[in-house]
Amino acid sequence: MQTITSIQALRSCIRQWRQAGHSIGFVPTMGNLHAGHLQMVNTAKQKAEKVVASIFVNPAQFGPDEDFNSYPRTEKLDQAALLEQGADLLFLPSVLEMYPQAPQTTITVRDLSARHCGANRPGHFDGVALVVCKLLNIVQPDLLFLGEKDYQQLTLIRRMVGDLNIAVEIHGVPTVREADGLAMSSRNNYLSPEQRQMAPLLYQALCTVRDAILSGDRDYSSIVDQQVRALQQAGFAVDYFNVSRSIDLLPACPNDSNLVILLAAKLGGARLIDNICLQIND
Ligand code: PAJ
Repeated sequence: MQTITSIQALRSCIRQWRQAGHSIGFVPTMGNLHAGHLQMVNTAKQKAEKVVASIFVNPAQFGPDEDFNSYPRTEKLDQAALLEQGADLLFLPSVLEMYPQAPQTTITVRDLSARHCGANRPGHFDGVALVVCKLLNIVQPDLLFLGEKDYQQLTLIRRMVGDLNIAVEIHGVPTVREADGLAMSSRNNYLSPEQRQMAPLLYQALCTVRDAILSGDRDYSSIVDQQVRALQQAGFAVDYFNVSRSIDLLPACPNDSNLVILLAAKLGGARLIDNICLQIND
C-alpha cells in the first residue's frame, strides 16, 4: 500500500490505474480507524479493483467549540490497519495541501443540512459537502463508500452528487456495532468506563421505538418522548430523537413506509449519533 500526501502524486497514480483499465473505489475517513471503517474498505475491495482510503481531519466541518484539536489522530496504527485490510493507497494530505487558501466557495445542500445534526452544528454539513466534493474531484473514483452510521451525511452527499452530476456511484455500508449494540465511532474514545457501559442505551432506545412502530403504533412523537425522558434520566443530554422519511429526512407521517429513526445525544464530553432504518409493510 502506498501512502501519498500530495494531490499531484495521487493524480498521477490514479491516471496509471485508469490507463490500465482498473475501477477505483474510495473510502474517505478522518482516521482513528475502527472495524466500521475497515468494513467499508472490505466492501470496497469486493466491488472495485483498486481501493483508495483517505485520512483527513477536515477543519471546515468542525465548529469553533468542537473537537478539531483533540480529535484522535492515530496515523501509524491506521496505516497498518489499512495495509492489513488490503487497501491499495492511502491519501493523507495536510490541511495546507487541501486548503492552500481559505475557500471562497461553499456547498450547501439546503434542506438536508439544516435539520437533525445541522440544527445544532451550524456549518458542519457545508464543511462535509465541500471536502467530499474536493476529494471526489481529486480521486475521481467510480464508487464512493459511506457509512449508514452517519445517515444524514450519506443522504446529503447522495443529494449533492445528484445535484452536481458528479460521476460516482454511492454505496451505503451498514453500521458496524460493538457486541452490546453501541455503534462504533472514533468518539467512543471520549467515554469514561462508566459512560461506556451506559452508551448502548442509545441503540436500545432506537430499537424500542422501531419495535413500537412495527407493532402498529403511529403516534411517533409520544413513542419518542418516552424514550427521550428515559435517556435524560439516565444522564444523556438528547440533541434530537426524530422519526423521519428515509428518502429526504423530513418528519415521517403515519402513511410513510420507509423510515429512519435518528438520534443524537451527549454523554459527558462525547456527542454520539445513531440511527435505524425500517420499512412498514401494511
Ligand atoms: P469518519 O467519521 O472518519 O467516518 C468515515 C466513514 O466511516 C463515514 O462514511 C462514516 O459513516 C463511516 N463509519 C463511521 N462509523 C461507522 C460504523 N460504526 N459502521 C459503518 N461505517 C461507519 O464521516 C466522516 O469521517 C467525515 O465526515 C468524512 C466523510 C470523511 C468527510 O470529512
